[in-house]
Amino acid sequence: MPLSDATEPFDLILMGANSDLALRKLLPALYHLFCDGRLHAQGRIWTISRSITSKGDYLAMCKKAILQHDGLASLDEKNWNRFTAYIGYLSIDFEKAQGYEKLHKKLKDPARQRIFYCALHSKLYPTIAKQLASHNLITDNSRIVLEKPIGSDYKSGAMINRCMAEYFSESQIFRIDHYLGKETVQNLLALRFANSLFEHQWNQRYIDHIQITISETMGVEKRAGFYESTGALRDMLQNHLLQLLCMTAMDPPASLNAQAIRDEKVKVLNSLKPITGSDIDEHVVRGQYEAGFILTDRGNEAVNRYRDEPGVNEHSVTDTFVAVKVEIDNWRWAGVPFYLRTGKRLAQRACEIVVQFKPVPHSIFEMQHKQTMANKLVFRLQPDEGVRLQLCEKRIGHHQQVRPMTLSLKSSGEDVTRIPDAYERLLADVINNNATLFLREDELMAAWKWADPILQHWQNNDLKPETYAAGSWGPAAATLLLAKDGRLWEENN
Ligand code: BG6
Repeated sequence: MPLSDATEPFDLILMGANSDLALRKLLPALYHLFCDGRLHAQGRIWTISRSITSKGDYLAMCKKAILQHDGLASLDEKNWNRFTAYIGYLSIDFEKAQGYEKLHKKLKDPARQRIFYCALHSKLYPTIAKQLASHNLITDNSRIVLEKPIGSDYKSGAMINRCMAEYFSESQIFRIDHYLGKETVQNLLALRFANSLFEHQWNQRYIDHIQITISETMGVEKRAGFYESTGALRDMLQNHLLQLLCMTAMDPPASLNAQAIRDEKVKVLNSLKPITGSDIDEHVVRGQYEAGFILTDRGNEAVNRYRDEPGVNEHSVTDTFVAVKVEIDNWRWAGVPFYLRTGKRLAQRACEIVVQFKPVPHSIFEMQHKQTMANKLVFRLQPDEGVRLQLCEKRIGHHQQVRPMTLSLKSSGEDVTRIPDAYERLLADVINNNATLFLREDELMAAWKWADPILQHWQNNDLKPETYAAGSWGPAAATLLLAKDGRLWEENN
């Protein structure tokens, strides 16, 4: 799926322009798209927030965020000045009508594409859609981008979808999950569906189990307000992890067209075995970090426990870690567990999908532990993007002994100086009206339907998360989750 440049002028209205997401990810991505000449010369980015009053103050924050994102000391002045001229700034309260009147005056040409990007808490989406509609800001050429999590459970997700449907058609709604824009996720599709080698093995006959990990060393940073009411399940599992699971488990789509891909993904989500009742305590681990040490460039740094983070309630039971054993009830995957986990303040920042094949049925060689010798295909999404295949080879000079060896599948012959960030890819797709990597309403609802019983169980039973030391790999129960099945997480192999 090659990236194409914007062919029509557009107005991109970025609501929540000083949110953590906008500064950390969206502005740097827009800046790179702009510098690479990928945004239409007549395009315009309208940055909107309610708290910052001057464009100068906003741009200073923006510059600092881009420098931090790129790890640079300075930006190319010429590019920066051109970029600042491309940006407009408006201070608007999203809940009040006057702000939308201001916006209406700025968006003069209704024929231009309009993209409303909501980098805000989803509880604001219905008000925003209503205000946009009552100020005649929604045109046939408009799209709305909704950040996850959309709602906090099935009921609120459905309410937001219903409300959006009053003002936008489904093809105008872009539900973003930035993990789908990561380069290795695209490569997962290519490896699976452009090669015959793996697809024949991609089922319960040959695969033992699959692990998907998104681990972060970061804590909750300055996002306690958002995170306290969200937690790891809603922030990462219900969306990013389930989407990675869909890309790994789906049947071959008929084409790369948006409907074809979404049809296959939703089939996976609808085949997830519900985790309910006593199975929840058996199959789901919920954790919260205690104080500990995180390895940084400056060495081991002591960090606070979650409950001592600024803005966090001292009795908080919010999950900062979640691990779950998922099963898919269909012919391809029956009996193959998918172990998913994510957490903040873990030992390393990494994201990997590990496909572990079954060991050979009968070994004629001297083997070490069977699991460590099994073939593995590992998709590394970050850092050090790439794919590796673990095979067995004979140990030189040792009679009949084999050992694991790794083939690293690095792209050959391509002159890549910089891997674009996921948001660059996805913002370009929104501007070009390509919805392939965005979620359809039924996908979102199927994901909430699966997650709801777990959330309700935690809430109704007043259960506390298990604790883990910052800098570790999560609660002991997460290790046990696999150990009960005679397996180990990848980093313990
Ligand atoms: C976001 C979550 O969706 O993804 C954050 O809200 C998380 O809590 C982030 O830190 C991780 O994204 P990435 O691309 O940095 O791995």
